[in-house]
Amino acid sequence: MIAFTLNGRRRQVDVPDDTPLLWVIREELGLTGTKFGCGIAQCGACTVHMDGAPVRSCSMAVAAVDGADIVTIEGLSGEAAAAVQGAWEDLDVVQCGYCQSGQIMSAVALLTDNPKPTDTDIDDAMSGNVCRCATYVRIRAAIHEAAKRLGG
Ligand code: FES
Ligand code: FES
Repeated sequence: MIAFTLNGRRRQVDVPDDTPLLWVIREELGLTGTKFGCGIAQCGACTVHMDGAPVRSCSMAVAAVDGADIVTIEGLSGEAAAAVQGAWEDLDVVQCGYCQSGQIMSAVALLTDNPKPTDTDIDDAMSGNVCRCATYVRIRAAIHEAAKRLGG
């Protein structure tokens, strides 16, 4: 049995240790906001927070999160999350939407660590999140806008 906190709620799952966390979140626990893209830690669609840091849930064995605090797009809260979500809406960042929960998870982690990121900081933090619709320019602008709203 593996136990961890998911969006503030204690969860236990009885699955093989090497089951990817993404499968557990989507299939066992029914939260489908976190997406499957590549399955090999190359696209960022499956990004969640583990103890506050962005991780690729497709490539993380569930045993590695035993005792950890996991947050998905459904459970995001706090000032940085509100600023990012507001800026995303106001700047109309989303196109097809598929990559966007991963983008937002990475953006919130960035702004939590660094309230006033430069373009280079943003590119470094977001480089693992691929968008097939090429919304990168709007993503960068929305992160700057969220930083401004946070007082950065
Ligand atoms: S699905 Fe996990 S990085 Fe692509
Ligand atoms: S908005 Fe379509 S893949 Fe990013």
